[in-house]
Amino acid sequence: MKRKIIIGNWKMNPNTGKVASKWFQEAARLVSRSKKTEIVICPPFIYLDNLSRIRTSKIKLGAQDTFAENPPAGGGPFTGEVSSEMLYNLGVGYVILGHSERRAFGENNQIVNKKIKGALSAGLRPIVCVGEEERDESHKYFDIVKKQVKECLAGISRDSFHKIILAYEPIWSISTTKARRDAVPDDSREMAVFIRKTLSDITTPAIANKVRILYGGSVNERDAEGFLRDGRVDGVLVGQASLSVEKFIEIVRICEALKN
Ligand code: 13P
Repeated sequence: MKRKIIIGNWKMNPNTGKVASKWFQEAARLVSRSKKTEIVICPPFIYLDNLSRIRTSKIKLGAQDTFAENPPAGGGPFTGEVSSEMLYNLGVGYVILGHSERRAFGENNQIVNKKIKGALSAGLRPIVCVGEEERDESHKYFDIVKKQVKECLAGISRDSFHKIILAYEPIWSISTTKARRDAVPDDSREMAVFIRKTLSDITTPAIANKVRILYGGSVNERDAEGFLRDGRVDGVLVGQASLSVEKFIEIVRICEALKN
């Protein structure tokens, strides 16, 4: 049984480091007794340093992006970029890659693939986001997700697969998508099974089984239980609801209380 993981993606929030630190301190206190859930918070880059100084063994830090290369000297002439090595040296353990909000700026599977390789070689665990924009009646969305999984993971060593977390985030369910719709655990289950099969086809069933698959898209404290219990996933990736410490901690509590 893989350990369940609850990840908060703060996106470009909050507006001040003070709010970020207060959230983190409060959450660290509230989860101090949690036992079985892995908890990761992915704030904007600029808050990582401060948050890494707040003592907690229960909450790990993740970044929301990284530079695609690992320059041989560790740094280089790449204005505006942050390297995986820098993140690792700060104590960051995870990095979200291929989020649909970054793909909207032109990031494609090939760039995500490079970033995954760079992140892995620096010692980070990639949280790779995949997901279709819309569901069509001819089920082309399966092909879209299959292509994303295959191209993003092309050439990754089989020994590294257990470090990869795949997050299925259908864009039509993300809270900021116009005319969004709610996804239900059946949507998650169907795609999680399909992603597992795709992973199995490109590696082996045993290796595919080691990859954690998450659901993300408007998960909140009211529907998290359904996804975690019936969505065939190893955790959830939470956006908007992770900005509220109460809501996020409630999702962690739900996960802790699950029988599995
Ligand atoms: P919401 O939970 O706000 O829909 O965001 C989902 C997401 O994009 C997490 O990465």
